[in-house]
Amino acid sequence: MIPHVLPTYNRADLAFERGEGSWAITTDGTRYLDLGAGIAVNALGHANPALVAALTEQAGRIWHVSNLYHIPEQERLADLLVENTFADTAFLTNSGTEAAELAIKMVRKYWAEQGDDRFEILTFEGAFHGRSTGAIAAAGSEKMVKGFGPLMPGFRQLPWGDMDALKAAISDRTAAVMIEPIQGEGGIRPLSDEDLRLIRALCDQTGALLVLDEVQCGMGRTGKLFAHEYAGVAPDIMMVAKGIGGGFPLGAVLATESAAAGMVAGTHGSTYGGNPLACAVGAKVMEIIAAPEFLAEVNRKAGLFRQKLEGLVAAHPDVFEGIRGQGLMLGLKCRVAPGDLVKAGYAEQILTVPAADDTLRLLPPLNISDEDISEAVARLDRAADRLDG
Ligand SMILES: Cc1ncc(COP(=O)(O)O)c(C=O)c1O
Repeated sequence: MIPHVLPTYNRADLAFERGEGSWAITTDGTRYLDLGAGIAVNALGHANPALVAALTEQAGRIWHVSNLYHIPEQERLADLLVENTFADTAFLTNSGTEAAELAIKMVRKYWAEQGDDRFEILTFEGAFHGRSTGAIAAAGSEKMVKGFGPLMPGFRQLPWGDMDALKAAISDRTAAVMIEPIQGEGGIRPLSDEDLRLIRALCDQTGALLVLDEVQCGMGRTGKLFAHEYAGVAPDIMMVAKGIGGGFPLGAVLATESAAAGMVAGTHGSTYGGNPLACAVGAKVMEIIAAPEFLAEVNRKAGLFRQKLEGLVAAHPDVFEGIRGQGLMLGLKCRVAPGDLVKAGYAEQILTVPAADDTLRLLPPLNISDEDISEAVARLDRAADRLDG
């Protein structure tokens, strides 16, 4: 008989009822060190007192207001996003997928407004932009699209990081290039700063819009507020989600005034997007994460973590091949199936996340303590022992 919850997930046999900082606690009281953080969502840890206060304070005032009216909490969050980024404007969504959908619509509308019929968006193999019909068409992987055709037209996937392929494909018929500065689901695969600058230059030469998907790598995860800042270039449109809500469902599309020019009243909307509860939490998350001292701490912790992980990789050459990523978006390239390591981790009470390209993802809360970093490496070491020889 089919389970009452549609069985679209492969779930581990674990159920958590509480969390404290970097720890998630099961219904039977077992404490797991959480290096998945809801796949880069619980950016400030579980039950963060500042976020609990922001949420409960808002919950005691008003939960939901339609976008038929002004929503001060939404305006405050948009102000913070614009003040801290390249963007001139922000639309709040409930998820990364919804941000992807709007980004695609915005690109199409931009060109329609110019009276130009270009619509092709260049994307990259291994990408993940969500599970809507548009987002799976954008990523185009067999695994995601099989059985869901016919796909939404207008996307062409290029080999990941292949700048020659991009140079050959991009033209003055290209509507946009859409890319994750660091692929998350694709296996913590970073684009070099040089390549991101080249993509920006190719977009400038052809007029194509640059759309960055920072759903997983944004919000302080890499040690900068957004990953593209390392390359010193800015997109025209950016998708944000995950960490921005600290666990409350929230996403955003940020855009320049020019890229967003077509998105006038009536062109897009959402019942819940920009809801006061989500935005009250999001504004608090932004206040905390955008602070330079906070980001400096992320970088310091990332340095410490990476140094310890180098020891771990060296100690288990049959299990690990190397380390990838930036800041606290780290991947251990594995010589074993990453899923086996995740399972060995459960036995050592540590939560990690597998990714494509034989990679194990480590995405701890950004405020993980130094002590918990040491504990995490000790547990990963014991998990690797279980798979050694
Ligand atoms: C880079 C990227 N884009 C988009 C999404 C989709 O976000 P959501 O699951 O919130 O819809 C994800 C989710 O993993 C992601 O990692």
